[in-house]
Amino acid sequence: MKTTTKLALTGLLLPLAAGLAGAAPVAENWDNHCTKCHGADGKGLTKVGKKLNLKDYTDAKVQAGLKDEEMAKVIGAGVTDKGKEKMKAYQDELSADEIKDLVAFIRKFKA
Ligand code: HEC
Repeated sequence: MKTTTKLALTGLLLPLAAGLAGAAPVAENWDNHCTKCHGADGKGLTKVGKKLNLKDYTDAKVQAGLKDEEMAKVIGAGVTDKGKEKMKAYQDELSADEIKDLVAFIRKFKA
């Protein structure tokens, strides 16, 4: 009886623990890592964003010119221009799933 209860409890708690330790919600990742440059609204009109000449992710034409795989690659590997880092690589901080979620998140900015 005791063992059964313990087993049932473990079954309940394990997924919970995994959920807590796992990927952060995509909106949180966007807020923490990306809004400084790309803006909360994805327009890239922040002080840094304007300087970096960022694309406006609410622009349908910009969205049409992007490929999911390339976006994921850029988020993972970052952006350098003439040897200077313009966007850092996030592959060490974010999992492949988190990066995939961010790509989907950026797609939703399209007006
Ligand atoms: C230090 C400023 C900065 C931060 C922070 C930043 N980016 Fe970028 N990002 C850039 C620059 C610069 C480019 C290249 C210019 C462009 O494509 O607009 C870029 C390009 C991109 C692209 C590629 C678009 C294309 O042209 O293919 C994606 C996708 C992207 N960023 C997503 C993100 C995500 C997601 C985060 C957060 C995890 C993030 N960026 C954080 C500066 C930044």
